Amino acid sequence: VPVKPFEMIIFGATGDLARRKIFPALYHRFVDGQVPANSRIIGVSRSEHSREEFIEIIHENYCEFEKDDKLDPESWKQFTNLIEYVSIDVLKDSDWSNLDQAVDDENSLIRVFYLAMPPSMFAGICQGLKKAGLAHKKSRVVLEKPIGTDFDSAHEINEGVAQVFDENRIYRIDHYLGKETVQNLLVLRFGNILLEPLWNSNAIEHIEITVAEDIGVSGRGAYYDSAGALRDMVQNHLLQLLCLSTMEAPSSLGADDVRTEKIKVLRALERITVENVKEKTVRGQYTNGRVHGKAVNGYLVDVDVEESKTETFVAIHAEIKNWRWAGVPIYLRTGKRMSSRRSEIVIQFKSVPHSIFGGDTKINANKLVIRLQPDEAVRLFMEIKEPGAGGLRLKTLPLNLSYADNFTVRYPDAYERLLMDVVRGNLSLFMRRDEVEAAWRWVDSVLEAWDETGQITRPYFAGTDGPEAASEMLMDLGDSWSEA
Ligand code: BG6
Repeated sequence: VPVKPFEMIIFGATGDLARRKIFPALYHRFVDGQVPANSRIIGVSRSEHSREEFIEIIHENYCEFEKDDKLDPESWKQFTNLIEYVSIDVLKDSDWSNLDQAVDDENSLIRVFYLAMPPSMFAGICQGLKKAGLAHKKSRVVLEKPIGTDFDSAHEINEGVAQVFDENRIYRIDHYLGKETVQNLLVLRFGNILLEPLWNSNAIEHIEITVAEDIGVSGRGAYYDSAGALRDMVQNHLLQLLCLSTMEAPSSLGADDVRTEKIKVLRALERITVENVKEKTVRGQYTNGRVHGKAVNGYLVDVDVEESKTETFVAIHAEIKNWRWAGVPIYLRTGKRMSSRRSEIVIQFKSVPHSIFGGDTKINANKLVIRLQPDEAVRLFMEIKEPGAGGLRLKTLPLNLSYADNFTVRYPDAYERLLMDVVRGNLSLFMRRDEVEAAWRWVDSVLEAWDETGQITRPYFAGTDGPEAASEMLMDLGDSWSEA
């Protein structure tokens, strides 16, 4: 669907996110004909660059990150015709006039401010926009995660931004919501009649959400060491996956219908306390090891510090206290430098109530594996009879809906969809203020319990799937994590 002409003003335009994700995403949308020719993209950052130098930076990064050696020079040229560059120190009032001169003075374009900056600067930049008269009624603001470092800081940032933009003009990004396979969760659950009647504690034994990464944290050490896996991944991406997997059916895909259902899940999450934190959470930190056969450094070397308790791995046994889910363990797990890159949601069903096949015949319980990345797929593991005239043996095989087998199209990067949704004014895939704050309240319960009990961060070798204690936590409940 074509969008209306827009101007996107990107603060932090020479930063990692803009170079890696935002500009490549805009270019792909341009090539697909979704960026109207009279749109404008204005890069804003503190560094002094000419427009040409800035475009060269974007070009080099595009080629590096997109691994695209066939970049079409003609379409790239046309794309870069839309780009301007403005140097501003957002802390200097006098600098704002540079931006004022660059924007469309007829206010005929949809105006989007994208703040790819540290969240501590969000409120200040919004005030700057207001003072400079740049935030007109039709403009929108995009905020990158993490919004704050706990409930109080998130609340303060939200208050600051709300003084300038109404809630329905604020787009809080969680890029996981832009992923094809994450949106497919809604289609899988609500576009099929088969699953929903079983989607509750009667038929489901437990749910596992794993987001495993093989990369480490080098290059982002300062941010990461003050954040850790709980704030960096669980507060946003894993909790969003949890919400989409467990919420009630919204009555439509309208932003408030979806977001209202998600927030009910967040509010129903059992708080982690000083009493239960040891049995319900495990923190880990990678040491040196081998990933895909290659020797890699440990965390302390990667972030260049002598000592740190920051977790690069976390496993949590969560529970949703409502009628649908009470008693169903929800296992969350994420980590850096694990054995492979793998994000998946596993729905482990219960065993059949009675076996008609005799005591010796093993029946595995059904399992639905939703592989989000890589090798996107949905696999439903079922029992079938192994052919043969001898005894009766059951075999577990998947009904396999692999994306690669069924689709040959290129999957757009999450940012491509999200950026266009901002221009279209569609808030469904963005987080509402109360949602972010509710997620922080639960995460704060974990942080506070860790702090009060001095919970240790256990070492694990890079290239393994986290500390042994994470497996033991599930073993104690008769469960295990899915294997890579
Ligand atoms: C980001 C985190 O939000 O998500 C990173 O800050 C993490 O630490 C990244 O690596 C993972 O995203 P993806 O799309 O590669 O799974």
